[in-house]
Amino acid sequence: MKISVVTVFPKLYQDFLKTSLIGRAQEQELVTFDVAGFSDYCQPKERLDGQTAGHGSGMAIRPEVMERVVDGLEAKHGKAYRIFLTPQGQKLNQKKVMELAQVFQEKQHVMLVAGRYEGIDARAQEAYADLEISIGDYILMGGDLPAMVLLEAVLRYVPGVVGKAESVQEDSFSGSFVDFPTFTVPPREWNGKAIPEILLSGNHGQVDLFRKRCAAEQTVKKHFGWLRAHCTKQEDKKLATEFIPNHYIALLHDKVIIQQDQVGTSSVTSLDIHDIARSGRTYGIKEYFLVTPLQDQKKIVATVLDFWANAGIDYNKQRHEAVKIVTLKDSLQDVLESIEQKEGKKPLIVGTSARSVGHAELIKFNEQSKVWAHERPVLFIFGTAKGLAPQVIERSDYLLLPVQGFSDFNHLSVRSAIAIILDRWLGINLD
Ligand SMILES: C[S@@+](CC[C@H](N)C(=O)[O-])C[C@H]1O[C@@H](n2cnc3c(N)ncnc32)[C@H](O)[C@@H]1O
Repeated sequence: MKISVVTVFPKLYQDFLKTSLIGRAQEQELVTFDVAGFSDYCQPKERLDGQTAGHGSGMAIRPEVMERVVDGLEAKHGKAYRIFLTPQGQKLNQKKVMELAQVFQEKQHVMLVAGRYEGIDARAQEAYADLEISIGDYILMGGDLPAMVLLEAVLRYVPGVVGKAESVQEDSFSGSFVDFPTFTVPPREWNGKAIPEILLSGNHGQVDLFRKRCAAEQTVKKHFGWLRAHCTKQEDKKLATEFIPNHYIALLHDKVIIQQDQVGTSSVTSLDIHDIARSGRTYGIKEYFLVTPLQDQKKIVATVLDFWANAGIDYNKQRHEAVKIVTLKDSLQDVLESIEQKEGKKPLIVGTSARSVGHAELIKFNEQSKVWAHERPVLFIFGTAKGLAPQVIERSDYLLLPVQGFSDFNHLSVRSAIAIILDRWLGINLD
């Protein structure tokens, strides 16, 4: 495998390529490198960079120099698959790394181009880059560390580079879960912290199970974003849910804003009963509380629930199944007490509003770990009419950022808002 690297600073690679597994891979002739400097392809005193066009001047690598580097290296090593390191490229992740490992093994020559200054002239980049890769949404001074990151990540997948191939397969970001925690032995105990007993049992089956559970727990708690983007196996979904705290939702028809700043009660909408129950079931909600203190409204809900619990089974089995999670309550206080009684812990209240209001800490849709770190059940509260009254929002531990689009219209039905929020908070969204 031939890899050429193009850089302003070839010296940076001297120790890097000699050290550790990459050094050994070269000794074993699994890979050979050619590190070329842009200046190697310049005439004496010719600059490799030029002034950028337009005002606010900076420097960038000139297209003619890029052309000479590509032509020169390809004349030596054959046509290359050219990867430009740029912050605007495709984001490197483990999936991309695995794809690239395949590419590296198939192509006779791979060229990595590390930019500097303001980057490479856009025309040359467009003409020569087969792939643009970024290592993350931050800006470094140059593409050399990104090139090294790419090499360290990709070469691990080249057979023979890493001694134990199976350890590569089990690493974090290779499946649904991140890696399990590792401990050295000795010491069995360090600073009062002992190694989990099961790891010393010699029972491989039990150890594997324990590790998988640890991996699932760590992923739910620290990398839920990864899990929801990569969890495809039913058994992994099931295991993950053991570590997600129970979630509840409450739809309030009391203490809601009815007109201007007036607080009052609203009527129940029959669609909200089964539609929200169906969303709730889809996203694993433990119980959906419909809150109304009004007797005649309760009667309507009870009639609908009774229909789906009995006569409606034959008409629509899924609705019958979904409405099993619906419970009627008089007040938010009743909801809180009911959850506490079942769980033995008070729920954390997450308020929702179309506007940013109240004093509760605002949370974003990717901040599950902040809420779940409390190890308490979670209750999302939703208001009907024009939304939850300020005194209800004040009770929230957290307030979820409003759902928004790019338009200035913000009047979702509560059913839609709940479906969107549940999907953003608990949904699987495969990458
Ligand atoms: C200072 S940066 C240029 C940033 C460029 N003006 C921009 O805002 O997109 C100089 C060079 O560093 C490299 N670089 C910086 N950050 C990077 C990242 N996150 N991923 C890959 N390459 C990066 C690229 O090779 C880039 O051409």
